[in-house]
Amino acid sequence: MSRYQNKQSVTVRDVMAAKSKGQKLSCVTCYDSAFARLIDRTSIDLVLVGDSAGNVVLGYDSTIPVTMDQMVHHTAAVARGLTRPLLCADMPFMSYHLSEAQALENAARLVQEGGAQCVKLEGGGAIVPQVRRLVEAGIPVMGHLGLTPQSVHQLGGYRVQGKGSDGARQLKKDAQDLEAAGAFAVVLEMVPMELAAEVTALLHIPTIGIGAGPQCDGQILVLHDLLGFEAGFKPKFLKKYADMGALVIKALEEYTSEVKACQFPRAEHSFSDSQK
Ligand code: KIV
Repeated sequence: MSRYQNKQSVTVRDVMAAKSKGQKLSCVTCYDSAFARLIDRTSIDLVLVGDSAGNVVLGYDSTIPVTMDQMVHHTAAVARGLTRPLLCADMPFMSYHLSEAQALENAARLVQEGGAQCVKLEGGGAIVPQVRRLVEAGIPVMGHLGLTPQSVHQLGGYRVQGKGSDGARQLKKDAQDLEAAGAFAVVLEMVPMELAAEVTALLHIPTIGIGAGPQCDGQILVLHDLLGFEAGFKPKFLKKYADMGALVIKALEEYTSEVKACQFPRAEHSFSDSQK
């Protein structure tokens, strides 16, 4: 069933309404069809094809090298496996900073070629004209404030943002400006939980936290992080709900030792002339 036929699909309106109903939103990233099909069988509300694809599945050490073509490719793969959760795609580094026209052209690719239902942009005041333009064109926008990984060089590392009164004031203003420009939600990444709670109370649109405490209207985690792919990756905000890394290594070691010991494949895994 395509998402267009699925009356149970989560919409941008549902995400916005969750806040007034006091219902928390559960969000996760995804980069391929195999995981999208699994997520589709859960109650996750929103799936983000994050530019964290750069770190998580493309082997880069930041999100900065990720291109529009790569985001379209991964978004389309996820869209093919997903029918129910709302599908959001990240606009990668420098795909929306040059002009409103550039932002519109690239967001349209994520929606038209990738099958995204909304897009996410990092930043505050400086990108408000782009946000307004996309929303006017019918493309829903999710904002992203606090630690914005595309600005890692400017921020001087992956560190908590919005500390101190100036930082907090600026973050609150940015959040209100994004809401006024028509954003339907805003991600708050690595900000003090007290500030995230204040922003959540200030806004009418939902806040989606990652390292922003329990008061946000929803939470998002990187799929591979919450599944425990990387034993050594342990940021304070992360809770691992599985130990997939260990599981995968164990399965692969068992497979390789059976192959080398001629224990796999057996007759039951093989075809024979005498079988129909
Ligand atoms: O790219 C990403 O995965 C993100 C989430 C961590 C919010 O932006």
